[in-house]
Amino acid sequence: MSSKEKEVTETSEAEIAVHWGEEQLIHPSTQFIAQANVTDPAVYERFSLDNFPNCFKEYADLLSWYEYWHTTLDTSDAPCWKWFVGGKINASYNCIDRHLAKNKNKTAIHFVPEPENEKVEHITFQELYVRVNEFAAILRDFCGLKAGDRVTLHLPMVAELPISMLACARLGIIHSQVFGGFSGKACADRIVDSGSSVLITMDSYYRSGQLLDHKEKADTAVADAAKEDQKVDKVLIWQRYPGKYSAQTPLVAGRDFVINDLLKKHYGARVDPVKMPAEAPLFLMYTSGTTGKPKGCQHSTGGYLAYVTGTSKYVQDIHPEDVYWCMADIGWITGHSYIVYGPLALGASTVVYEGVPNYPDPGRPWRIAQDLGVNIFHTAPTAIRALRKTGPDEPQKYNYHFKHMTTVGEPIEPEVWKWYYHSVGKGEAAIVDTWWQTENGGFLCSTVPAIKPMKPGSAGPGMPGIHPIVFDEEGNVVPPGTGKAGNICIQNPWPGSFQTIWRDRERYVREYYEHYCKDPKSKRWQDWPYKAGDAAVVAADGYVRILGRIDDVINVSGHRLGTKEIESAALTVPEVAEAAVVPVKHELKGKEPDLYIALKPGLTGSDDLAKRIQDAVVKEIGSIARPRKVWIVSDMPKTRSGKIMRRVLSAISNNTAVGDVMTLANPDIVTEITKMVQGK
Ligand code: WT7
Repeated sequence: MSSKEKEVTETSEAEIAVHWGEEQLIHPSTQFIAQANVTDPAVYERFSLDNFPNCFKEYADLLSWYEYWHTTLDTSDAPCWKWFVGGKINASYNCIDRHLAKNKNKTAIHFVPEPENEKVEHITFQELYVRVNEFAAILRDFCGLKAGDRVTLHLPMVAELPISMLACARLGIIHSQVFGGFSGKACADRIVDSGSSVLITMDSYYRSGQLLDHKEKADTAVADAAKEDQKVDKVLIWQRYPGKYSAQTPLVAGRDFVINDLLKKHYGARVDPVKMPAEAPLFLMYTSGTTGKPKGCQHSTGGYLAYVTGTSKYVQDIHPEDVYWCMADIGWITGHSYIVYGPLALGASTVVYEGVPNYPDPGRPWRIAQDLGVNIFHTAPTAIRALRKTGPDEPQKYNYHFKHMTTVGEPIEPEVWKWYYHSVGKGEAAIVDTWWQTENGGFLCSTVPAIKPMKPGSAGPGMPGIHPIVFDEEGNVVPPGTGKAGNICIQNPWPGSFQTIWRDRERYVREYYEHYCKDPKSKRWQDWPYKAGDAAVVAADGYVRILGRIDDVINVSGHRLGTKEIESAALTVPEVAEAAVVPVKHELKGKEPDLYIALKPGLTGSDDLAKRIQDAVVKEIGSIARPRKVWIVSDMPKTRSGKIMRRVLSAISNNTAVGDVMTLANPDIVTEITKMVQGK
């Protein structure tokens, strides 16, 4: 991409956010401050660069260690950072066992089924302990799994998902949970990349009132993985209704095992937590990048757990007596860090809700909050927009009170922020806008809620111990307060950061560090700023406004989809010669993909073909990637050297100015496509 072309792409990606003015600061209430975990501004001093890396001991000390570490940060293999080296720890022990002495009878997980006539399940820490142990016994004794092995989970939002994760963690097995909404094919790709021989899934689950057959995806996943020489020996299946198999898809003898049946043989089993080195991988989380296949972000045990526990306490303001509800899906990093590991490490009660937010009506989240006494709420702008649109007056009908609310995943429009604050939060809740990524493990920018005021539309300053810096393409610093955007980087490593891309260190270095590395041979962390891949503007007060991705990633409903992944899915349809995907603004989802297709010579488009292409995308990736529209065009707008001009397509899809197209090889096509898409 030429630098000129790149500039234009950046501006259009950033467009929604850029026109927002600087907003007024809003201060949290005195009641919030009076009870907050962190109220002393000296926290920023304690976590200053001068005190780096030892400042992070403060987070690590929130955990129980079998052996304390001798080196806080080992940079000898830069930029693969090792935190708390020498330390031994178990994540499952920290989230469960250590709470038993005082709190075994307290709810760890409130599981809320989507159908409102089904009872909420309140799983105590004791019950969680029993279920995790018994399932860990199956993994160890029936499956023969051990520390370092990978297991793929393809589970919906049910209590069995954290139970499965914590059972893996107990044994040091690296779990790789694939978002339940992803297709069997997408699951297969992740099984192959991670080298999993066991798949943990569920027969069915509810979504928008329908009991979906989920097990059928496992059959596709196993078959597709086999084509790439990754054999899955065992598929372990949880039952949505224990004791009753609720999928249409039959079980495969010798391969599929119903967990409920296996559990009978492991009744009462207890599995000692394995003492894992701090830097042992805890899990993989796949995410999309600019090119090629999804990358497996490898997260560590000690550093990751310390970081999510620390930030859950300092930013989410979780106290053990809180009822905390993060409405994300555990299939994304938000759910791993801020539904499972962070809240449970702190001994709080965490809510797992099976279904969609506005099922059966947009009052549902507020009834859940009222019934369970939720006092901390966490969600994404896409859900806030949808709830605001469909039920703007619903929150006031219910008697719940949040002290704290989070927004995450994409920029939030100040107008939407204000509805969240006044209507959902009833003007009582402190809001944090948290900016971070799958790669990061936990928050990078956010206010510490009792210390820094809120600014609608801005994520806030770098977290304590996180020191952002904005560079232009050439590596010059763009100073705060200039109103200019650039590439946001973090100057220092932090314990929650991923360790590498699973089995692809070269890509890890290239995509995140190469651009701004001062010396590729250096072993000093100072020479390796982390490039996030977002454009950002920093105000004079240090508050960061994130403008959007600088690469070919589309953020749909707060989740990353690679344009290349969608395009390759389209190319699996034999008639397709070329595919180009561009982001289109969407009222609720933030962005949606629009798919342009050119067919092989001599072929003509039809509705049926467009439908088949759309289906191919859903089959390869999942319905989250479903294009708004498939436009079959006679040719793509191209440069003279034959490159597809996605920015021109993007302008057409978004009704913005296409700019000068006379240098294209085929300028006439622009008029033709504009007519097709905009009808003029
Ligand atoms: C991308 C990361 C981190 C969990 C959810 C998404 C965008 C994330 C914000 C925010 C503006 C945000 C960025 C980032 N993003 N949070 N508060 N304000 N943009 O994780 O799928 O890895 O996506 O989401 O563009 O790079 P992810």
